[in-house]
Formats: sequence, C-alpha cells, structure tokens
Amino acid sequence: MQIKIHKKIKLDSGLLLAPIFKDQLKNIPGFFPKTVASFITERVKKAHFKGKKAEFVDTFISEKNLPDQILLAGLGDGKKYNSRFARELGGKIGKYALAHKIKELSVLLNEGMVDFSEEFLQGLMMVQYTFDHFKNQKKEPTVKLERLDLISETGSRPIENAASKAELVMRGINLTRDLVNYPSNVVNGERLAKEARLIAHENKYKIVILGNKELEKLGCGGILAVNKGSKNDAKLIVLEYDGGKRKEKPIVLIGKGVIFDTGGLNLKPTNSIEEMHQDMAGGATVLGIFKILKQLGIKKNVIGVIPVVENMVSETSYRPSDIVKMFSGKTVEITNTDAEGRMILADAITYGAKLNPEFMITVATLTGAVAIALGDRYCGLMGNDPKVRSALQKAGRAVDDLGWPLPIHRDFKKKMKSEIADLRNYDPGTGRYAGSEKGAAFLENFVEKNRWCHIDIGGTAFTDDPKEYETKGATAHSFRMLVRFLEGL
Ligand code: BES
Ligand code: ZN
Ligand code: ZN
Repeated sequence: MQIKIHKKIKLDSGLLLAPIFKDQLKNIPGFFPKTVASFITERVKKAHFKGKKAEFVDTFISEKNLPDQILLAGLGDGKKYNSRFARELGGKIGKYALAHKIKELSVLLNEGMVDFSEEFLQGLMMVQYTFDHFKNQKKEPTVKLERLDLISETGSRPIENAASKAELVMRGINLTRDLVNYPSNVVNGERLAKEARLIAHENKYKIVILGNKELEKLGCGGILAVNKGSKNDAKLIVLEYDGGKRKEKPIVLIGKGVIFDTGGLNLKPTNSIEEMHQDMAGGATVLGIFKILKQLGIKKNVIGVIPVVENMVSETSYRPSDIVKMFSGKTVEITNTDAEGRMILADAITYGAKLNPEFMITVATLTGAVAIALGDRYCGLMGNDPKVRSALQKAGRAVDDLGWPLPIHRDFKKKMKSEIADLRNYDPGTGRYAGSEKGAAFLENFVEKNRWCHIDIGGTAFTDDPKEYETKGATAHSFRMLVRFLEGL
C-alpha cells in the first residue's frame, strides 16, 4: 500500500473517510471540504448521525475533485480517544474498504487522531491481509487498498514516522501470519530454514542451522526424540543480531517450531488435530521479529533460537514410556508424546543458556490449557523473573497484545518429577489441571540460574473469531508485545 501525506485532497476516486469527534459536530474542522461539512451538518440536523464512537454513515457523491464515496465515522468523546480505539477503528475501516472493494482511500485526519495514527494505520493494514493464494477460481477477485492519502492540516513529520513504523511492523507480522497460515506441506522445516537464511542475508545477521547430524553430536535428545517419526531432519535455527555493545550479554528469544503436531502416538483426535500447522507460531514470531529487528534499530544483542521438528506417527516415532537423555544431560520419561513442545524447548533453552544470556524468553503454542485459563484475549506469561514478566505485560498492554501472569507453584515442579527418570514430560495424575503452568514448570528445570520468561500463545496464535483488527487464522499474537518490549529496553 502506498501511503502519502497531503494538506489537500488529491484523489478523485475511491472513498473519503471523514472521522469526527462529537464535540466537533457544531464546528466542523476547516480543512473538511464544503460538501463533506454540509453532509455532516445535514445528517446531524436530521439526527442520522450523532458522532458516537464507531458510528458510521456512508453515501455516494458526485463532485469534481472529490472521491466517489464518503464515509462519516464518529470518534466519540475526544478525551477518550485512545490507542485501542484507534487500532479498532482502523480495523473496522479496513474491513469496510475490503468489503466495498476500495482501492483508494483518503482520510481527513483529524488533529486529535495524530497521536495514535500508528495504531490507526496498523489496524487498517492488519485487515488487508488475505489468505487465498491456493484458490484457482475466486468467486470475486479480491480488491485491496492500494493507495492511502492522509490529509492533515498540521505537520506531516509525526504522521510520516507513524506510517513508516506501521509499515515496518506489518512486514514482520505478515511474514509471521503467512508462515503460520500456510499448511505444513508448504511451510515445512526446509522452508523455515530458507526464510531464516533470507532474513540473515538481507540484514547481515550471523546464522547457523543445525541438522540431525549436528544435533546428534551435541546430544540434543529432546529435539531428536520428538522428530523421530518424521522423514525430515530436525533443525535448530540460530540467528544473531548485534545491535548492542560488543561484550553486552544477548537476549535469547526461543520460538517453538513444531511444523505439525499430530500428538504423536498419543494421537490428537479429530477437531483437535486440523489446526496443528499453527504449532510453529512461536518460531514464526521469532523469524518475523528478526525480519525487522535491524530496521527497528533495537540497540541490543538478540539471538533467536528455533528448534524445528514434526511430531508424527510412524513406526519410528518416540513412544510413551521412552526415556530420553536431553541436551542438558537430564533424563525425561515420556508420559505423553503430545507434550512435545517442552521437549524441544528444553534443549533450545540449554543451548540458549550456553550463550551467557541477559535473559531468555520462550514463545510457544505450548498448551491448549492456556485457552481454558485465559481465553483468546491474553497469552500466559510465566517464568522466574517478575521484572521481565511485568515489562512484557506492560508492553503488551500498550499495544493491545495482552498477556497475563500465571504462577509456577513448587508443587507443579514436583509433579513433573519421574519415579524412573529425572523428569517426566506430562503429569498423568491430575492431567490438564494447571496444564500451562506445569509445562512451564518442566521448562524451568532447564533454565538453571538464568533469568527467563515464558509466553504461552496456545490460546491466541490462531483464531476463528477475529477481533476488529484481526483476520481469521494466524493472529501473530505476542509480536507487537515483543517489539514494544525490545524497544523499551
Ligand atoms: N501444540 C499443542 C498445544 C496447542 C493446543 C496449541 C491447541 C494450540 C492449540 C501442544 O503440543 C499439546 O499438545 N499440548 C497438550 C499438552 C498435554 C499433552 C500435556 C495440551 O495442551 O493438551
Ligand atoms: Zn502436542
Ligand atoms: Zn505442540
């Protein structure tokens, strides 16, 4: 989408958006064209429009030098206009544009909207995303916004900055959403590796990708065990960005990269298995962030670690009752092959711990249980470092990418001990009670003395019930949270 900033309306086709605060109805901003101003006055007089929050009225016009269509949008009380509403409004208008096949949009950017123009633009761009490349015959061709003109009376500098920031973040989010939405026969381990190599090449990051052979040499038993049922090699992708001082400890971002999670021999049932191509969402989030990390100008050293496997059913699959020796040397009794994410993350954590990190963050569709606890609004935030955790929560709140803390009680850690090995990967006793927290409790055994925070996006990474600024499928939940968090460090 091409974004331009002007003082006057330039487009004579498409849609003209006229957002207006309630208290401006009597005194319509001077830069609104006369036709628009009198349309508003007329609608207000007849009580068709009250300027309430997210109240819309549209009409076609036929006037030279103006677009074909006007959409009046109520902004409500000026004092209550905030980042969340701006993002939602952007989403609503973006969906309207899509539904009406609008290619060109001019926005009469009210002065009171400028502070939240990044959020508004992000909402608008978020919903332009479609996932229909696999359809040979589309009922109707998709028409997306191609040009966006922001009409503003005041200085264009802050709006320009907001627009380029929103575009940059969208580039990362769209990569994450694509990787998660594409089925596993397209986005497989090879493809993730290819994408990582491309990102490294574009940004001159260091990159290492380990395959089965190297993982065997290292002794990454957790990653290899989960991948045993797959014909493809397991991988460990390691990306390194040096934005900080030379000797500064890195932040290690670890993302779960399960290409497909059948559950393994503890096979998932129908209705639980279909969407399991999303199980690499944590890894896709890390890749999306690395895509834009350099351009964001983050002044930190960040290392991304993505263990990539497929949890498949085959005669070579790992079995319930197997005992696996992990990269750390600890042994794990497999009590459920569907608790595979923690097995691969544990090895990735051990790998991360050797990098002498400032702290580590794991991002993973680790449990379905987190959706029972927190629904589709909040991801679960766990770990051993309340500081990092609350900074993540705060960052998430600022960008409406919410997280909520969940506790790791010492009893949960006890539940993950095995009678015949050091640990077990699942507690068959109380089953799914505190499922997310017990998953995190398992991981904590590998963290050693490091600071660590764990983000469980099992309930938020993928949706059938999108929010105003989301589309069906991948949401890239935790992406904006992590970006804001890294920016704030
Ligand atoms: N990938 C799943 C978790 C998941 C479920 C993510 C639904 C997104 C949507 C994970 O590997 C898993 O199977 N977790 C089990 C854990 C259990 C066996 C301890 C779960 O949550 O049911
Ligand atoms: Zn699983
Ligand atoms: Zn999984």
